[in-house]
Amino acid sequence: MTLRALLCFVLVAVWKAACEQIRYSIPEEMQKGSFVGNIGKDLGLDLKGLSHRGVRITSRGRTQYFALDVSSGHLYITERIDREQICSGLEKCLLNLGIIIEDKMKLYGVEIEVTDINDNAPSFQSEILEFKISETTASGSLFPLRQAQDNDIGVNAIQNYQLSSNGHFSLEVHNGSDGAKYAQLVLEKPLDREELAFYNLVLTAFDGGDPIRSGKTQINVIVLDANDNPPIFSQAVSKVNIMENVPKGTEVVVIKATDLDEGVNKEIKYSFQKITHQGSQMFQLDSTTGVITLTGNLDYEETEFYEIELEATDGGGLFDRTKIVVLVRDVNDNAPEIAISSLISSVPEDSPPGTVIALLNVHDQDSGENGEVTCSIPSSLPFQLKKSFENYYSLVTDRALDREQEAAYNITVTATDHGAPPLSTSATISLQILDTNDNPPRFEQAAYTGYVRENNPRGASILSLQASDPDWGENARVTYSLLLLLLPGGEGSESPVSSSISIHSESGAVYALRSFDYEQLRELRFQVQAQDGGSPPLSTNVSVTLWILDQNDNSPEILYPASRSDGSTGVELAPRSSEPGYLVTKVVAVDADSGQNAWLSYQLLKATEPGLFRVGLQSGEIRTARSVLDKDALKQSLVVLVKDNGQPPLSASVSVTVVLADSLPQILSELSSLSASAAAAAAGGGGGAEPQPGLTLYLGIAVASVSGLFFSFLLGLLALRLRRWRNSQLLESGASGNFSGVPVSQFVGIDGVRAFLHSYSQEFFFPQPNYSNTLSSQKSCDVKDPFLLGEELNLSKADEESTQVTSPLPISVPPLELVLISKAPLGGKGFPMPAI
Ligand SMILES: *[C@@H]1O[C@H](CO)[C@@H](O)[C@H](O)[C@H]1NC(C)=O
Ligand SMILES: *[C@@H]1O[C@H](CO)[C@@H](O)[C@H](O)[C@H]1NC(C)=O
Ligand SMILES: *[C@@H]1O[C@H](CO)[C@@H](O)[C@H](O)[C@H]1NC(C)=O
Repeated sequence: MTLRALLCFVLVAVWKAACEQIRYSIPEEMQKGSFVGNIGKDLGLDLKGLSHRGVRITSRGRTQYFALDVSSGHLYITERIDREQICSGLEKCLLNLGIIIEDKMKLYGVEIEVTDINDNAPSFQSEILEFKISETTASGSLFPLRQAQDNDIGVNAIQNYQLSSNGHFSLEVHNGSDGAKYAQLVLEKPLDREELAFYNLVLTAFDGGDPIRSGKTQINVIVLDANDNPPIFSQAVSKVNIMENVPKGTEVVVIKATDLDEGVNKEIKYSFQKITHQGSQMFQLDSTTGVITLTGNLDYEETEFYEIELEATDGGGLFDRTKIVVLVRDVNDNAPEIAISSLISSVPEDSPPGTVIALLNVHDQDSGENGEVTCSIPSSLPFQLKKSFENYYSLVTDRALDREQEAAYNITVTATDHGAPPLSTSATISLQILDTNDNPPRFEQAAYTGYVRENNPRGASILSLQASDPDWGENARVTYSLLLLLLPGGEGSESPVSSSISIHSESGAVYALRSFDYEQLRELRFQVQAQDGGSPPLSTNVSVTLWILDQNDNSPEILYPASRSDGSTGVELAPRSSEPGYLVTKVVAVDADSGQNAWLSYQLLKATEPGLFRVGLQSGEIRTARSVLDKDALKQSLVVLVKDNGQPPLSASVSVTVVLADSLPQILSELSSLSASAAAAAAGGGGGAEPQPGLTLYLGIAVASVSGLFFSFLLGLLALRLRRWRNSQLLESGASGNFSGVPVSQFVGIDGVRAFLHSYSQEFFFPQPNYSNTLSSQKSCDVKDPFLLGEELNLSKADEESTQVTSPLPISVPPLELVLISKAPLGGKGFPMPAI
């Protein structure tokens, strides 16, 4: 430029004289052909000669903007002139051209100034401007804006900027050093992303032309988030109810904090801020989702609530805290518990109602209704539960107990709570009822009857008594004993029972102590006492009747004709003139047994003259069967067999001597030659023992001599006695009773002897029916003896009566004794022995 300017200056200087300078000014953007200036006139040229004077325009540029009309001398535009293109940025835009007139060799300079018109609108480089501004940016901050472009110059260049209205931004326009205007965005008010995160502004640039042109651009302001918002929990404290029985893994609660920020500032992490150790075992927190799940087993009874402090932290480190109270709700998950604080395991059966057996305490860990407990026992039991206070109960007896009914109880105590559904627990208390001796032994039968055959072996078991006692142990141990019936008046004297029988104290078996004789004793009545081992003992009495059964142990006893001491019997007389059927005599026999055993039959065993006599089978009467003939001997010997009906039968025989004579002298002559041989046979026999003449003779002499003296003494005594006795009339009544079945006539004459022999045998030869107990037998015999000496008589009289009550046999002991003594010499023994 400088060079050009300098060249121009040189040209102008050179061409000072010869060269005339003209100047034109035209606006840019003129139409083609537009008139610029009249060169011919301005230069003073003759137009007529111009065309052939060789006038032309010289230009330094390539583009010819102007042309010269030679004919008119006018300069006009041939090309559109854009000032901004030709001389962009220059203050003055000058186009120079030379007009050469060749014939005159003259050069004229023409300077054309192109002036600006507002043909360019302001424009921005980009249509959208984007700003990212943090919301924390302080107000007043400036954000430079790119300049808009306007190729025009001067007033046509950019004069002003404008910003669309908004609450936060304003525009500040500066004059630049080069005169250009610079706009800056000013933050008037702090931004809040949370309020508005995006602003859309329009920036308009205006130039100063006429008309004013403008250009627009869009400014997008994006508010960048700053962590200016902490997370917020909706509630400071929240409560959560949860049943204690929910399973593990259950979602307890979801906590949520909100953060208005975005991005990482919004990313919240949850954590426990404050939690008990138990709580940390129980709950788990998902740090991202905020879900609290249950990881343990809740137990209301252990912990009723949990207090948890939670913290929510965003990515920028801001936080909020909240508190969660987890209230554990009670569920009826605990059955009541029964604690037996004191207990007796056994109680005596006579304990009064109200005796305390156990103290219980019931407890339920649950609360409220779930923890209220009712206690009960089955109503059928004789016990009662008494509530003492709160949850304490005492188990007492309700009524009298009886071990014999129920020896032990299992008392089931049931505790039920009031939950829904209710839970219950039961405990069993075992109670033993202890025995007291409240039951006497009881016999199975009201009375016992036993039977025993006579002649039983000693020690034979007769009968067994059984008493039971429902009590227990010693109280039920029964011992048996005979009740000793004391005889009235007799100090310490015992009944025959004690010597006859005994009872085994343990088993109750009754044994015979001796061999019984039916003929002596028909029955025994006694009492047995069963006594238990309690303290005091209880006892029961039972009466026992023992019947002694008859055995055929007695041979028939022939009473008449009686054997004499020498063994002979008397002589019966029968007149030779007697008719057939004449009653010669009658054999009288008795049998001490009873029933069949005493049913006697008579038969003729032997006779001197068979056919002369016959014996009544039942009556024992000896009658003549036919008339006595002369050839029949004077003395007839008959042997009559008496047999009882027992099994086996027993028999006895007697010899009867019948003298067939019509007068006494005849008899007497016969008597001297009469040899008596009477034989009495023992059981089963019928054959008599052969007499031993020598021994019998000596024995007879010895006995006769000793007895002779003694007899005389006794006869004297007897006479005295007899008189007294007759006075008392005792024997008469007794004898008549005893021999009621026998014709009295048959006994005439033997009364005295019998009575004598009786008392005699009593004192010296009475047989001992019981070998075992001589003393008691002696006593029992004594009391039957009506001929007792002295003062004992009164006593014996009373006893005679009582004895007769128990001896219903018509012919009793006295005749039997008579027989026995009469047999003794015949048996040839030194001492009398019983027949059996
Ligand atoms: C910028 O220039 C204009 C005129 O050219 C003037 O009116 C205005 O006051 C100036 N502004 C500043 C800040 O100098
Ligand atoms: C009590 O319970 C025990 C044990 O179960 C049992 O052996 C006994 O027989 C029961 N007693 C009664 C009286 O029910
Ligand atoms: C049994 O008999 C004895 C003697 O007679 C008497 O003392 C006792 O009281 C009687 N016992 C009963 C229970 O009858």
